[in-house]
Amino acid sequence: MKVLITCMSISFILVGAVPSVFAQKTGASKDLDATVEKFLQENRRNWHDLNVPYKDGKALFNLIVKNNYTRALEIGTSTGHSSIWMAWALSRTGGKLITIEIDEDRHKTALKNFKKAGVEEFIDARLADAHQLVKELKGPFDFVFSDADKEWYTQYFKEVDPKLVVGGCFTAHNVTDGFGDVKRFLNYVRSLPNYETTIDRSSTSGISISYKKANASSSR
Ligand SMILES: C[S@@+](CC[C@H](N)C(=O)[O-])C[C@H]1O[C@@H](n2cnc3c(N)ncnc32)[C@H](O)[C@@H]1O
Repeated sequence: MKVLITCMSISFILVGAVPSVFAQKTGASKDLDATVEKFLQENRRNWHDLNVPYKDGKALFNLIVKNNYTRALEIGTSTGHSSIWMAWALSRTGGKLITIEIDEDRHKTALKNFKKAGVEEFIDARLADAHQLVKELKGPFDFVFSDADKEWYTQYFKEVDPKLVVGGCFTAHNVTDGFGDVKRFLNYVRSLPNYETTIDRSSTSGISISYKKANASSSR
C-alpha cells in the first residue's frame, strides 16, 4: 500500500511537470494572444491578396494546436493572413513556420503584418520560388499548408512527402472549388494507402487534410 501511494505521488509530480499547450498561460503569452486577436479582428475584412477567409485561418490554428504540431511549412504566404493564424498556433506549441512567397511586394507586406500581429519570432519568411525551394528544404515537417499555384499541388506533395513525419499532415486550400488541377491532386492523395484524406467542410473554401499513417515502404 505504502509503495502504491509513493508511486502515485511520483506520477502526480511527473505529470504536473510536463509542459503542455493546456498549461496556465504566462503573462507574455496572454499579451501575445491579445495582440494577435486584436490584429486579426481589426483586419478581418481587409485582406485583398487572395488570402484565406477568417474561418479557414481559424481551422488551421485549431489543427496545429489539437495535434501539437511544431514544424510547419506554408507554400504561398501572400500578405500573411494564414501565416499569422499558424504562427499564433505555433506560439502555443513551441514551434515555428517556414513560409514561401514569390512576389516581393506581398512578401514585404507580410513581414510588416507579422510584426504588427506580434508573431514575427515564430515565422521564417522566404522570398523564393517554391518550385525550387520546396525541393531544397530539409524538413522534417509535421504540418504543411499548400496555398500557392494549384497546378503544382501534386508536385509539392510529392516533394514534401519524404520530409513529412508519420502523424503529420499535408493540407491544401480551395479543394472544394473543384478545378481540374485540384481534383487531380485530391485523386492522387486519396489513392495513397499510407495517407488518410478528409475535407474540412467547416472551412469556407475547403481545406483537405491528409494525415500520414506510415512511410510508403512500410505501407506495402
Ligand atoms: C492564395 S495566395 C496565398 C494566401 C495566403 N496563404 C493567405 O491566406 O494569406 C497564393 C500566393 O502564392 C504565391 N505563389 C504562386 N506561385 C508561387 C511559387 N511558385 N512560389 C512561391 N509563391 C507562389 C502567389 O504570389 C500568391 O501570393
